Amino acid sequence: MTSFSHQPVLLRQTVELLVHDPAGIYIDATLGGGGHAQEILKHLTTGHLIGLDRDPDAIEYCREKFGDSIRLIQTQFSKIQRELSPIAPTGVQGVLFDFGVSSYQIENPARGFSFQQDGPLDLRMNPTSGQSAADLIRSLSLQELRRILRTYGEEPQATRITKAIIKARQQAPIETTAQLANVISKSVPAAGVKALARVFQALRIAVNDELEEIVLGLENAWTSLAAGGRLVALSYHSLEDRRVKTFFASKSRTCTCPPEQPICTCGGQAQAISLTKRVVRPTLEEIAKNPRARSARLRAIQKR
Ligand SMILES: C[S@@+](CC[C@H](N)C(=O)[O-])C[C@H]1O[C@@H](n2cnc3c(N)ncnc32)[C@H](O)[C@@H]1O
Repeated sequence: MTSFSHQPVLLRQTVELLVHDPAGIYIDATLGGGGHAQEILKHLTTGHLIGLDRDPDAIEYCREKFGDSIRLIQTQFSKIQRELSPIAPTGVQGVLFDFGVSSYQIENPARGFSFQQDGPLDLRMNPTSGQSAADLIRSLSLQELRRILRTYGEEPQATRITKAIIKARQQAPIETTAQLANVISKSVPAAGVKALARVFQALRIAVNDELEEIVLGLENAWTSLAAGGRLVALSYHSLEDRRVKTFFASKSRTCTCPPEQPICTCGGQAQAISLTKRVVRPTLEEIAKNPRARSARLRAIQKR
């Protein structure tokens, strides 16, 4: 197995926002290499940590790393409530989301996440379930592929790249990361690695249904929280952060009257207190040590 060294982002700030009761039950919904989990454990006395990941390799690695000190569940975090209701029926004290992919997934060519190394064009976080990127490239129409590149990659040259992909697949199936990278680079030579990064991000989001997972994950995690429990989320691009921001704002809003109504008649009370009045960003020092932290944004709320 490729090394699982994943340097956790905004480690101290994240765990300080999450753990407010050392005897509580906490969920790391995106276990990865267990970097945040390790720090959470240090903050617990009689409390418990439950770790989720959809990637069987992350679960296997954390089983070796933590033994019995963490309860591990291989699942998508959109199913968090279903998993937690039998084992934590009175609710949990905190849920952490550290979205996106781990360094292990990116650096392991067999998983197909990287355009810098050749491997099968897979990009599934759980390689045993759903359609791979090669399946999508093989089967989607021009319109569907272009929509994915535009919406999830914010790719300005989506039409040109999509046409090149369709033309290439008529000649031979596109089954490896290098084949796809080659088609993209030839279609938009001036765009360099930026286009490659945007297209691979778009396919990754589509293959793993990442944005819907975030919306459902946040909603279900919220339902699983006890009063006083906290939701803490680390995002890495605007599509993720927008969903977190919108969800947290909806829970922190007092009045739910229509905006055109001049006077509040709902008497609404906010369901959450915001713990990060301003989004938390890594320092330049952290970014220098860990370039992955560059785009990180940390937000947290507490259930009333
Ligand atoms: C950025 S890494 C987490 C790194 C971790 N915090 C650490 O310190 O090592 C994200 C992890 O979340 C997992 N993941 C992403 N989306 C998921 C989902 N919808 N359900 C469950 N796990 C998910 C990925 O497989 C990956 O292992």
